Amino acid sequence: MKIGVCYYPEHWPESNWVNDAKHMKDVGIKIVRIGEFAWCRFEPEQDHYDFDWFTRAIDTLHDAGLQVILGTPTATPPAWLIRNNPHMLAVGEDGHTRDFGSRRHYCFSSEPYKQECSRIVTKMAELYGEHPAVVAWQTDNEYGCHSTTISYSDAAISAFQQWCEQTYKTIDALNEAWGNVFWSMEYQHFNQIGAPVLAVTETNPAHRLAYWRFSSNQVKRFNQLQCDILRKLSPGRDIVHNFMGNFVEFDHFDVAKDLDVASWDNYPLGFLTRDGVNAEDQTHFLRTGHPDSSAFHHELYRACGTGRLWLMEQQPGPVNWAPYNPAPLPGMVRLWGWEAFAHGAEVVSYFRWKQVPYAQEQMHTALCLPNGDEDDAAREVRILAKDLEQLERVNTMMTPAPVALVFDYAGDQAARIQQPDGMNYDPLIFTQRVYSALRQLGVTVDIVPSEAALDQYKLVCVPNATISNATLTNTLQQLDVPIILFPRTGSKTTECSIPAELPPGALQALINIKITRVESLPPATQIQTNNHTVLIDWRERVEAEFDAHEQCADGWGFHYQQQNVHYFNACPRQEDLIQLLSARLSEAGIPNQDLGAGLRIQRCGDLTLAFNYGPEQITVNDEILANFGYKSADGFVLGTNKLNPAELCAWI
Ligand code: GAL
Repeated sequence: MKIGVCYYPEHWPESNWVNDAKHMKDVGIKIVRIGEFAWCRFEPEQDHYDFDWFTRAIDTLHDAGLQVILGTPTATPPAWLIRNNPHMLAVGEDGHTRDFGSRRHYCFSSEPYKQECSRIVTKMAELYGEHPAVVAWQTDNEYGCHSTTISYSDAAISAFQQWCEQTYKTIDALNEAWGNVFWSMEYQHFNQIGAPVLAVTETNPAHRLAYWRFSSNQVKRFNQLQCDILRKLSPGRDIVHNFMGNFVEFDHFDVAKDLDVASWDNYPLGFLTRDGVNAEDQTHFLRTGHPDSSAFHHELYRACGTGRLWLMEQQPGPVNWAPYNPAPLPGMVRLWGWEAFAHGAEVVSYFRWKQVPYAQEQMHTALCLPNGDEDDAAREVRILAKDLEQLERVNTMMTPAPVALVFDYAGDQAARIQQPDGMNYDPLIFTQRVYSALRQLGVTVDIVPSEAALDQYKLVCVPNATISNATLTNTLQQLDVPIILFPRTGSKTTECSIPAELPPGALQALINIKITRVESLPPATQIQTNNHTVLIDWRERVEAEFDAHEQCADGWGFHYQQQNVHYFNACPRQEDLIQLLSARLSEAGIPNQDLGAGLRIQRCGDLTLAFNYGPEQITVNDEILANFGYKSADGFVLGTNKLNPAELCAWI
């Protein structure tokens, strides 16, 4: 477990560097990410390189005993490159070119741009690939940030046409697969196919899903190019990319196959105010972030790649980019770090060392103020570093969780494409709701891709596998533990149509039901079942030869079960989910208890941690400890069993 920081030597006079490096070391930092936006200084003019200053920066960090993660600078091509080659730019959904002047101004499909990337990455890897301070590389920066995964440039459209030809072989096959006879959308040649935007009204869901798959693959290929160079020229170093939170524009499992470590950038307060789903949570967790948002992403990205996890950027204080940017409660900067370590992170790196006084991010806080004085975050990082020292010898290796949650990027996309049918149904938010209910019940969860082996788990949840999937069906068929399928599972084919056998498609092999009608409902619509009231925003009429567990007043059932397989045909709210899932967990012999909105418990190796995200003091009492099989509250190694807001405790 190492603490890191993001640093931009090019933003500061060279005379600052030695002090900055010593100061980082003193705070407890061990690893520093640099370089990811510095192309205009590496190559101020075409083929005129200037890496001397960067070498001195790396050496300065090295001399201070710090390790280095080198970022490739391909998220920010310099002005000369773009002005000479304007076709490298991406085109937005509105048909306008997304011009130079900020960052991520490139199109994943531009072959000339990819050649330039290979050139600069090769140059850096030749210079620093075997530098003793360099322990890892970060490819590019946050693929897709600022909605840049999908481009509608000429280069992208022509690459899409080729992708279609490779995928479908003949134009007739494509027309058939997409159902293009509808509205006379049939093509005669692949070169007639455009992007699924700027049409008069909604474009074909199959076309949109194909464009998403194609775009996801372009990200993969872009990343692969850099990984191949780095692997050859910088042996033994980890290759990492920093993914984002609440982001599903490409298949991260697929992209991460070329990485050694999937990392991500965690801004819990930014996410809450930008993406938060309900006003109540926003008020409750304004200064702590949602208790399950960080953990959800730690699980997800740990499952990408090789099972290793880093946190490349962690929020230090108020950010500058959300609609409102509150300051975290004192304690949260340390707590977020611990939450990441407790979910398997090897590195927690804070963004950034010093607040930069100019340009777009001048209002974004850092560990230190622009004048180099420590800000609140640096003081908390010092405490975190002491915690780590104290627990150095404790085994914190993650073991498999009892519960698996299957996450499917294409399934998410297929459900998303179907909007506005069910406007308030967001597949990612619903999946997070399921995860959150499990976490509130005190359960440790692994998130896994749909092709994962599942036989080690005691319970499996399938919240977003919208696409009927034979591999997943076969895996699930081998299990005799509770399997929980949620609405829309298997409701689409790979081409985003309704399966011939009706939803849940192939999964009918698990539970013999058919969905014969769906309805979407305005927020907070209630249905009355014979047991209780459930709030729903989407529900399905199920045809089955057996009765539902509960019956609604209008004759539709709710909750179907055949042997170990459960199908929930409505999207319940979190409080209802907690009830429903608790019963299944108990059936599976998994200890669980509603911990309330603010308390979370996480086990890693021999260490167990409890976190208070809520607004009031919480006691981790003997009942909770006993319920989850912990002996007593005596063995605390951090904190005590009384947790004030933003506090944590840990025991062995
Ligand atoms: C991230 C990005 C960083 C910085 C940060 C600010 O998305 O990778 O470069 O912009 O946000 O919060």
